[in-house]
This record gives sequence, structure tokens and C-alpha cells, in this order.
Amino acid sequence: MISKRSDLHKLPDSELYLSPTYATRYFVERVPKYKLPESITPASVAYQIIHDELNLDGITAFDLGSFTTTWMEPEAEKLIAENMGKNFIDRFEYPQTNEIHQRIVHILAHLFNAGENTDFCGTATIGSSEAIELGLLAHKWTWKERRIALGKPYDRPNIVFGAGAHVCWNKFAKYFDVEPRIIPMASDRFTIDPGLIADCIDENTICVGAILGTTYTGACEPVKEIDSLLRVIKRERGWDIPIHVDAASGGFIIPFTNPGLEWDFRLPHVRSINVSGHKFGLVYPGLGWLIFKNRQDLPEDLIFHVNYLGETMPTYTLNFSSGAGMILAQYYNLLRLGREGYTSVMNNCLENTTFLAQRLVTSGKFELLGALELPIVAFRFKQTPSFTPFQLSQKLRERGWMLPAYRLPEKADGITALRVVVRESFSHDMAELLANDIINTYNILDEKQTEQLEPHTHNKRRTSV
Ligand SMILES: Cc1ncc(COP(=O)(O)O)c(C=O)c1O
Repeated sequence: MISKRSDLHKLPDSELYLSPTYATRYFVERVPKYKLPESITPASVAYQIIHDELNLDGITAFDLGSFTTTWMEPEAEKLIAENMGKNFIDRFEYPQTNEIHQRIVHILAHLFNAGENTDFCGTATIGSSEAIELGLLAHKWTWKERRIALGKPYDRPNIVFGAGAHVCWNKFAKYFDVEPRIIPMASDRFTIDPGLIADCIDENTICVGAILGTTYTGACEPVKEIDSLLRVIKRERGWDIPIHVDAASGGFIIPFTNPGLEWDFRLPHVRSINVSGHKFGLVYPGLGWLIFKNRQDLPEDLIFHVNYLGETMPTYTLNFSSGAGMILAQYYNLLRLGREGYTSVMNNCLENTTFLAQRLVTSGKFELLGALELPIVAFRFKQTPSFTPFQLSQKLRERGWMLPAYRLPEKADGITALRVVVRESFSHDMAELLANDIINTYNILDEKQTEQLEPHTHNKRRTSV
């Protein structure tokens, strides 16, 4: 969402026009930045202007905090390029793309242990946010239909989740008018406390959320424990409350690294799961997945049947049009890697995670904020030096590393975390370089601060990182 720039009328001409460096060679026009140019710009010039400006963006490989994929194989890129113009919604025009979409939903339902006899269903989405919002909307609708059938009021739905949830959970609550009941973190607990869930639940609870890999620390919430609690509540109170598992990251990791962990459709209350294709599904940004355990978990009333494109077609997405490229790239990865390949990639990420974490911990400067269940190293300062994690993060930019620093939510907000998501493209060598740079930068900042306090005693200088 972009607001209008209110200062445009104050800017000098030089800031309102693009004046290409190459202008004297083959292009002399100035191109307005904030208004549509009146004339045509040659393709090579338009390309060069944008290409050059984007040099100012960070390098994706050094974007340590990001969960999204920054590298794919050339064959996958070829498929994406070949299919970029295909609109996924045109199912009848592109029936094979639709067939591949169906195969992926089957593969994921199987991966999440839906069971041979379940009538699962699912869809591709733009990302996990859309998948989560659609999943929760379905649970709100099921709850509402049940309330109507019982002749009970349905104007005060609520949803229970932990403070470690991604902002899209809060967005859902606000956009879809559901009261969020958020279970806070504690200074020593960064996941939901199942012991507090029972007190938050009532007959108006549409769903309980559980996260397989929180955005803050990468910790997995205790889905099995929540499921047991909801079984007791169902038995004792008669409320059948579903769990939606936000497996944005974990859904493509845990089935390969820890297949025995029960977090998925093996648990009776887990009725819907989202996973990001563009995170550890290893596809470029623009792809999420939503899977329901049973067709009846998605109320018929929410499915729109449109006929604009020929035959009638059911849809359950927020957006109508979307690119087919990433869906095909997801299928490429599933086909190419299989269980063996995904297992090997994820285990490699975990090994690099452990290596990086150990280097940081043994430096004596940092401590971990999670158990490294996923390839995410969330850590904090062990001591309280006179500089902040935000300053460390800023200083590391000099080497190109983009290491985010952020405060944890309420009740754990005394903690400022730093996070490295160890993606497939982050090698052991990179982990070593990064660990050296983090530790070295910490020491430089520490020394600088000490020098400022005692200018005569510390005149040794380290080389700058
Ligand atoms: C746990 C979790 N849920 C949801 C999301 C939102 O995913 P997306 O960016 O695909 O919409 C994220 C993103 O980082 C996440 O970590």
C-alpha cells in the first residue's frame, strides 16, 4: 500500500526525472519518475534505467532474515519463463497446468498424512497469508453454520492463537471480524502455552492456531498437546474446535527431518494446514498452499462457481488471476527432488544451522532463542554491551549482510532477537564467513565503545569488517 508522496511539488527537477547515464550515447530524453512518460522509451533504455537503479537493492543471497527462496535450478527457471504468461485461473485454457495443480494438492495431503480414505481438498495461493486467511474463514463459516443450525447467536466469534503468530493471523481477525484471543509469550517461553488455551476457549471459538516454526524464533508449537486438550474439551463440553496449523516454514521441513513428529492430519483436530511453496518448498516468491483434511471442512457456501472463462469452475481464493509459473516450478521441485532430495536439502540446511549456532554460542557473546528444530538461528546478546543488536545489524550491512534485529512481542519484549534463516543456498562456507563477521563486528563495536569510555587505554585498532 503506497500513499501519495506529499513532497513531490517541493522536489527539484533533478529528482523528478530520470536522466540516464547513457543518455549522451543513445538517449537524450529525461524520463519523468512520478508521471507516465508522454513518449515511448526504447526497450534497451527502459531496461538499463531499471536495471541500474536496482543495483541499490540488497543482494538476495545476503538477505539472512528472509524465509523466501532466492535460488532455483536453471531448468526450473526455464519452466517459469516458458509459462510466465499463463493465468492460472484459466483452467479450461490450460488444463494440464490445472492437472499439475491437482497432483501437488494430492502430494501435499499425502505428505501431511491425510490418510488414504480422507476426502481432502486444497488450493494454491499467493502465499501463506492468503492460505491462512482462507483456512480460518472456512472454520468461521463452519462454526457459523453450526450455530445457525442450533438456533444460537453467531455474532461474536473468537479465535485463539499465540503471540508468536505471523501478522496475517491478526489481519484475519481484523478483516473478517473475529475477536483475537492472543496467548502472550513469557520472558522464557516464545511459543503458545497450551496450559492457557482452555481458559481462552468457549462455544464461540472458531479455531485454535498452532505454528510449526514461528517467524520470531523458528520454534514449533506443541500441536499434539493442543490436540489432546481439544479432544478433552470436545468430550466434556461438546465443542468441536478445529486446529489450523501454520506450517508456512515447517510443512516442507519436518516431514523430511522428523517424520515421526505428530503435528499434521494424523491428529483428529488438525483440519487445515498451510505451507509456503516459496519458503522451504524451494520455489521463488508468490506461492502458498492450503490443504483441508476433509472436503466438508470447506463449506460449499464459500466456493464460487464462475463461468466467465467457458465452463463453470469452482474457486476458493481471494485473488482471481495469478501466475501459473510458480505452481509449475513447485511441481518441478517435487518431481526432481522427491523425498530423498528434500530430505537431503533440509538436513544440509540443519547441519549448517547447527554449525552457525555453535560458532555464535562458543564465541561467548550470544545465546540461542530456540532449539534449532528448523533451519533458523534466532539469537540474542548474552551480555549487555553499550551497543544494541540494531547497531550490530546496521554495522554488518557494511559487509553486505542483511541481518534483521527485532523485539519479541509483549511479555518477551525485553528481548531483542537477531535471525538467520539458513536457506538451501546458504552454504557451510557462507555460515563460516557470517559467523566470523558477526563475532568480529561485535568485537569492533565493543572495543569502540570501550575506547570512547577510556580513550587512552585502548588504542589498538582492528581492521574494519
Ligand atoms: C509462520 C508464518 N506464517 C505466515 C507467514 C506469511 O507467509 P507469506 O509471506 O507466504 O504470506 C510467514 C512469513 O514469514 C510465517 O513465517
